[in-house]
Amino acid sequence: MKFHGSDQYVATQDLMLAVNAAVTLQRPLLVKGEPGTGKTMLAEEVARALGLPLLQWHIKSTTKAQQGLYEYDAVSRLRDSQLADDAARVKDIRNYIVRGVLWQAFASEQPVALLIDEIDKADIEFPNDLLRELDRMEFYVYETRELVKARHRPIVFITSNNEKELPDAFLRRCFFHYIRFPDADTMKAIVDVHFPGLKQELLSAALKTFYDVRGLPGLKKKPSTSELLDWLKLLVAEDIPAEALHSQDDKVAVPPLVGALLKNEQDVTLFEKLVFMQRHNR
Ligand SMILES: Nc1ncnc2c1ncn2[C@@H]1O[C@H](COP(=O)(O)OP(=O)(O)OP(=O)(O)O)[C@@H](O)[C@H]1O
Ligand SMILES: [Mg+2]
Repeated sequence: MKFHGSDQYVATQDLMLAVNAAVTLQRPLLVKGEPGTGKTMLAEEVARALGLPLLQWHIKSTTKAQQGLYEYDAVSRLRDSQLADDAARVKDIRNYIVRGVLWQAFASEQPVALLIDEIDKADIEFPNDLLRELDRMEFYVYETRELVKARHRPIVFITSNNEKELPDAFLRRCFFHYIRFPDADTMKAIVDVHFPGLKQELLSAALKTFYDVRGLPGLKKKPSTSELLDWLKLLVAEDIPAEALHSQDDKVAVPPLVGALLKNEQDVTLFEKLVFMQRHNR
């Protein structure tokens, strides 16, 4: 099983190497990178390219590791016992064990891909609580005294936005890849995938503005790939000509629909100031 990118996802050489390395090592691939650089989409696309079903576990601040394994639904059991029309069912605790995503992945008849998305959103104990499960691909169900073992080791993707440091013991068990922000050529290829017929002139002008905005020193939130795509979509929808983006002569202005790129008022103000200064330097 080898990943070579896909028709909808532009993967750089080092990203493909990382994916294949993780598959070979049978270790989770830990993917970091700025928001919107295609971390989540990578898992979807690798699964699609390799023809594997993808099980997704989206982590929130309240998510506990145990929820990925199984949960014991005591409330339903109590309710059923009060209705008392199905005593046999109530007696067997297995009827009230709800399988989590990890269990589903382990139990699958065919190999699957598993995405643990945004692991840094959970509390600090979360990664540590999954060490054994991800390493040995097994866990114990105390309620039923049963050991659940993976039939096939799933291909695991773990994404992080770096909001929290991950523990060393956890890192040791992963293969790591940082998705660097795409350079102009890679970005062109990515845009091409989404807007195949885009006019070259508009694309060049938009890319120049985009990288200029990203290059502004002191920006609080740099726009990323997905924001560029949103912006291009709007430019196309509104039929904005490439000339409107050029900053020649003294018509330098804040680009149209800048709200797709800059997401807070400080950044917009900063940008306007810069434009203003440029005008006066001419
Ligand atoms: N390499 C790429 N090829 C094609 N499209 C891409 C690529 N990178 C990003 N995109 C586009 O950017 C969008 C955002 O990607 P995705 O949701 O995977 O980002 P993310 O890194 O998971 O962001 P976040 O950290 O905010 O969850 C995708 O829907 C896709 O349209
Ligand atoms: Mg994501």
